[in-house]
Amino acid sequence: MTDVLSFIDANLGRFRSELYDFLRIPSISAKAEHDADTRRAAEWFSDELIRAGLDSEILETQGHPIVLGEWRGAGPDAPTVLIYGHYDVQPPEPLELWTSPPFEPTERDGRIYARGSADDKGQLFMHVKALEAHLKTSSELPINVVVLAEGEEEVGSPNLVPFVDANTDRLACDIILISDTGMFAEGIPSLGFSLRGLAYFELHVHGARSDLHSGEYGGAVMNPGNALAKIIASLHDADGRVAIRGFYDDVVEWDEETRRQINDLPHDDEEYRAGLQVPELVGESGFSTLERLWIRPTCDVNGILCGYTGEGAKTVLPNHAMAKVSFRLVPDQSDAKIRGLLEAHLADVTPPGVTVEIKELHGGRPWKASVSGKAFEAAAEALEEAFGTKPVSMGGGGSIPIVVEFEERLDATALLVGFSLPGCNLHAPDEWLPIDNFETGIAALAILYDKLG
Ligand code: BES
Ligand code: MN
Ligand code: MN
Repeated sequence: MTDVLSFIDANLGRFRSELYDFLRIPSISAKAEHDADTRRAAEWFSDELIRAGLDSEILETQGHPIVLGEWRGAGPDAPTVLIYGHYDVQPPEPLELWTSPPFEPTERDGRIYARGSADDKGQLFMHVKALEAHLKTSSELPINVVVLAEGEEEVGSPNLVPFVDANTDRLACDIILISDTGMFAEGIPSLGFSLRGLAYFELHVHGARSDLHSGEYGGAVMNPGNALAKIIASLHDADGRVAIRGFYDDVVEWDEETRRQINDLPHDDEEYRAGLQVPELVGESGFSTLERLWIRPTCDVNGILCGYTGEGAKTVLPNHAMAKVSFRLVPDQSDAKIRGLLEAHLADVTPPGVTVEIKELHGGRPWKASVSGKAFEAAAEALEEAFGTKPVSMGGGGSIPIVVEFEERLDATALLVGFSLPGCNLHAPDEWLPIDNFETGIAALAILYDKLG
């Protein structure tokens, strides 16, 4: 291992400049105008796997391609690790809020600023460098490796489950290793024990045949904007709970021991509040902030569109209003069931005079780890050796819907070892990754491969 770690140390500068080439490609999966860029990122990443010493190919899907890298030289007795990540990124808008342009990686204050630096190109690339360090120092790895990088994670992975089903033999593995989450805090390495699921809808409220003069018609017809506001207001009760009948039916109550572990973490509400610059923290009563983030479900409006929003005043009754509404789910809620509950709720609360239509955007199931076992121990040791501190277990408020699907289909255990930090601005302007975590993380991953072998 000393050789591997010295190799990493000696090549950190090169690693960074290679990462910047990857980050310069605007692989925005949501935007068709960037399809060629997204493919270019897949090609770049596949070539990079080959440069590191793996085999790699690009496999087509109905959407953006999947990059599949392989190194199977450790033999049938060694474990096989499936490393999963995504090379696509979220749209960078609003551009004017970026200090430096999103696709021009820039170092400031020990951070790498760029779209995708933390989510997830930077973290995916760390694996390639840890693999390279092994392969370039000893021409071998202690484990068999399959690297699966997809280009559609940020749009709900619509083609990944069919791909996994069609390739279960090739993807067969013992451990699924993912670096697409974060650390609890600076200097505190972390292992993930949960991810929330997602059920995401667009609600369309339709009124009259067209927009109407609000004086000529106001008072005689229901305004879709007013109706949508009423619908949104009905989604929560006064205790911050989701007010949809049956919503909590499948929510698993977590054991006291896990709740104690969560609440023993060095979290400070006042610091958290001040960091977010909000006057007060609010959420479901009866749960701490970390519990609200990790083990409780939510409902949020992600966008609203209605009426005249240009300069000045326009007296108009809009004939359409739309809201994007998403639910973060926890075990054992299912996104398919939530849709039915939402439909029933809308039938109850939609005011007369308008119709409402639901469009499903995407869904994903929640995940809960088996927090013990050899792989988990190995990861804890590797993180401690690299960071000099014992890791903590943390939940994940976000969603990586493929995790539970992988586990079930491949009969393997997922290990979530992430290196971003709270405040890294995932999906937001000025996304960054700490250079320290990039460097120490590569070492941690290299050590982890060794321990898994
Ligand atoms: N890497 C994130 C998920 C994440 C972020 C997990 C932070 C834990 C902590 C991932 O790229 C992501 O953004 N997922 C989407 C879901 C997807 C279906 C669009 C999300 O959580 O909104
Ligand atoms: Mn991600
Ligand atoms: Mn993301």
